[in-house]
Amino acid sequence: MESIGLIGRTSRYLEIMTRFTIAMVGTFCVASVGTCVGASGGDGRDGQPGLGSGGSSLTTDLPCDVETVLGARCWGCHGASPAVGLPALTNVASLRAPARSDGTKTNAEVALARMQNDLLPMPPAPAANATTDEIAALSAWVAAGYPSGSGCAPICSSQTMWTGGNHESPEMNPGMACIQCHSGDGGPGFSFAGTVYPTAHEPDLCNGADGTNGATVIITGADGRMLSLRPNRAGNFFAEQRLALPYEAQVVFSGRARTMVAKQTSGDCNACHTQTGTNSAPGRILLP
Ligand code: HEC
Ligand code: HEC
Ligand code: HEC
Repeated sequence: MESIGLIGRTSRYLEIMTRFTIAMVGTFCVASVGTCVGASGGDGRDGQPGLGSGGSSLTTDLPCDVETVLGARCWGCHGASPAVGLPALTNVASLRAPARSDGTKTNAEVALARMQNDLLPMPPAPAANATTDEIAALSAWVAAGYPSGSGCAPICSSQTMWTGGNHESPEMNPGMACIQCHSGDGGPGFSFAGTVYPTAHEPDLCNGADGTNGATVIITGADGRMLSLRPNRAGNFFAEQRLALPYEAQVVFSGRARTMVAKQTSGDCNACHTQTGTNSAPGRILLP
């Protein structure tokens, strides 16, 4: 009985302390509005993990390629609650809004100009200047009339996930970098491996497009020798035969084709064709 009484006393004490702390914080905010505004901006950002570092959990109506550029390069300062005077650049409405510096232009237009302005670049130094790919992605979107999208939010079209861990199977770990893991972890030594998906931003482990209905991944080596690979039910395809590098890749399905313009030397397709796209890849390898 005595110990129960003690616990009761302890929790009452904690409750009082908690109220006291909240009251202190409140007073602090009212007494110093500047600091309070700064602090709440910081809180907003903490509540959105990943903000400013590429893929983010911020809900946005931007297409994924635009989110990828702004999320990685701009949202650190132009996020959902930016410092006073800075525009948020997190959704279609904010990017279409008139710019503070020139009301005849949208924030996106001024953003494009600043990304290409060597004297007053965005992002500001010491950050590296925006790349031509990044500028091209934003520019194409503005030229297309600011179409909305669903961000890089992952959609698993098949609605089924691989749940077998590293249990050996040709259908294992769809979407993940097969060769990267096998070379360290004992799976077969593939020369080429990857996963084909029906849409561009599907998450790791989501089963890809069932390729057993005739989809083919055609890989052509530098000397013209070709491999034709048939994706399985999980969309996975793989080969152990080597080809002369660099190689070219194409996916063919019902008379349509998608061709990779660049030649590549790494056969680990999913290392670049990730959910959001790495090394400028547009996302997943798509069924044409
Ligand atoms: C490290 C913080 C930081 C990053 C990162 C950053 N900005 Fe800025 N941005 C600022 C500051 C500070 C200003 C205001 C001073 C100025 O205009 O130079 C500004 C101003 C702007 C303006 C001007 C708005 C107006 O009407 O004058 C635009 C547009 C802009 N940034 C776009 C971008 C874009 C696009 C990116 C990413 C490619 C980016 N910024 C990245 C800090 C940042
Ligand atoms: C995180 C690590 C990891 C990833 C990613 C991974 N694997 Fe594996 N894989 C393994 C391991 C470990 C084995 C060997 C398992 C064993 O011996 O029990 C294996 C074995 C295999 C086998 C041999 C199965 C058999 O029947 O002999 C195939 C085929 C395979 N993986 C395909 C793939 C494909 C295709 C991908 C990419 C879409 C992939 N794996 C991604 C770890 C991985
Ligand atoms: C080093 C990164 C990298 C690797 C590895 C890679 N890709 Fe790509 N892939 C890209 C980039 C970047 C693009 C977009 C530009 C282009 O088409 O060259 C692309 C585009 C594609 C496209 C055309 C996309 C479209 O929708 O039109 C296909 C198909 C493709 N890749 C298939 C593959 C296959 C299959 C493999 C593995 C055998 C592979 N890629 C490996 C970077 C890579």
